[in-house]
Amino acid sequence: MRLLLLNGPNLNLLGLREPGLYGASTLAAIEADLQERAADLGVELACFQSNHEGALVDRIQAARGAESGENVAGILINAGAFTHTSVAIRDALLGVAIPYVELHLSNVHAREAFRHHSYLADRAIGVVSGFGSASYRLALEGLVGHLQARGGVG
Ligand code: DQA
Repeated sequence: MRLLLLNGPNLNLLGLREPGLYGASTLAAIEADLQERAADLGVELACFQSNHEGALVDRIQAARGAESGENVAGILINAGAFTHTSVAIRDALLGVAIPYVELHLSNVHAREAFRHHSYLADRAIGVVSGFGSASYRLALEGLVGHLQARGGVG
């Protein structure tokens, strides 16, 4: 069972970027922690970060079904600012029809109004927002629980 973690623009700067808002953990540390948790849960996790919308769309397309792609069972996505702007990432996620969880380190609803709208949230299994780096673990646990309930894992 293979899952995919996607991180969008500026998340490569975690640890340096507005630490009061996003915390002190680097993306590498968050990914390593999540790999450990995924192993505990008995799932395989691939990680990908890009600052480029098209690269994220390409990565989502590569994740699709067994015949043409990697057969990824579920996606965790922190699309960063693209959450609030990208019809293309929404279309890619819906196009591959892979269940996904949207996540954010910060509570986007406690921030500027332009962060209150998401192009991804209404079709996500769920949204995790505001728990800092713990949002990643919570999102992973939520996604695995969802797939298990559907009979896809374990
Ligand atoms: C973010 C929230 C977004 O609004 C912002 O553009 C980010 C990070 C978060 O994880 O809190 O880049 O997705």
